[in-house]
Amino acid sequence: MDAELARWLVSTEAEPALAAAAEQADPGSLAAAATLRRSFPPEHAAAALSQVALRRRAAGKFGEVAARLFFTRDALEQATRADVSRWRAARLAAAGTTDVVDLGCGVGADALAFAAAGLAVVAVESDPATAVLAAANLGDAGRVVCGDAVELAGGLLADGAAVFADPARRTASGRTWRVADLTPSWEFVTGLLPGRVGCIKAAPGLPSSVIPDGVATTWVSHRGDLVEASLWSGPWRAGSRTAVLLPSGQVLDAGERRDPPLGPIGRFLYEPDPAVIRSGGVGALADGIGARAASADIAYLHSDVLAATPFATAFEVLDALPYDEPVLRAWVHAHGIGAIEIKVRGLDVDPAVLRKRLKPTGKGSATFVLTPTPAGARALVARRVTPT
Ligand SMILES: C[S@@+](CC[C@H](N)C(=O)[O-])C[C@H]1O[C@@H](n2cnc3c(N)ncnc32)[C@H](O)[C@@H]1O
Repeated sequence: MDAELARWLVSTEAEPALAAAAEQADPGSLAAAATLRRSFPPEHAAAALSQVALRRRAAGKFGEVAARLFFTRDALEQATRADVSRWRAARLAAAGTTDVVDLGCGVGADALAFAAAGLAVVAVESDPATAVLAAANLGDAGRVVCGDAVELAGGLLADGAAVFADPARRTASGRTWRVADLTPSWEFVTGLLPGRVGCIKAAPGLPSSVIPDGVATTWVSHRGDLVEASLWSGPWRAGSRTAVLLPSGQVLDAGERRDPPLGPIGRFLYEPDPAVIRSGGVGALADGIGARAASADIAYLHSDVLAATPFATAFEVLDALPYDEPVLRAWVHAHGIGAIEIKVRGLDVDPAVLRKRLKPTGKGSATFVLTPTPAGARALVARRVTPT
């Protein structure tokens, strides 16, 4: 989208087209396009329809307010989930922040949360069309400046505001996240942290080697999805690594990185939340729930007594079968299992391929947890349990 189209989209002139698009059951259909083209120029009809489609998709991230916000496809993909941006804003506010500069705001998901938390927000965005949409989304709640964060940061941060940056990937292609692909650059954004309150958002796979000294790092999961690693400067313990579960806000301090004690599998098995694993907190979790690992470097924990923890999914181990395809196939057949969930760590197994080869048929369902143990590779038949 170019800036001119973005300016039209956020203007009152676009309201009839957006309203007509919102009435379409499938805004992506040819029928919807034909309907809107009867009343609006093709470019406006297409922009209104795709905006409505994006708003519907955005409802999962933002809830009902998505219907009032403006997006581009890229910006929606990169936007922080509402629960996560709310957590970040509350954390900055609790640190005494009153002003924040968002360097690379996209359409403003984080900036909106800062404003909602009562912070004064200046948001910088280099892409002109995205900046227009961000300004419309923020309204009176904040100021959007279209320009290069690298040039503007010094002036905007001079009065002691906190800094936030969520750098974009320079290229959308490629699966691996590389620090060198970020814009503004990693060196630039992390260089803003010393001496001020700030937060830099990064992908959860952030390698430890690029985390600068002196920052606190949080790995955040939202409803079980690992969504980000963020670096914090301010009143947080330098060098700390914590896992944060959202929306509950529960926090596990990984403490000094340590391995859990080793021992046999037990009656209960725990699959740690991905934020706990990434933060290096499996040892701290094991201490907290009195659990052990059956194999070094395998992030399943085991215990004989069920412990309540929000930081892991708990299973009861119903059977421990040798990891052997004919044995598993016979078990699946004997128990009439038609639906198999396969979890695996530490063994070279493709769950989808194995599932097919086990030829599941029947009404039953089962979960297999495949893992090395001191007694050899095992397929643990497991059932989710909720401690009371
Ligand atoms: C990952 S997105 C931000 C998403 C935002 N936090 C949200 O939740 O909506 C990063 C944004 O930074 C912008 N950007 C990249 N380099 C920039 C620069 N040097 N100056 C200003 N903005 C920049 C990109 O255009 C992109 O919109």
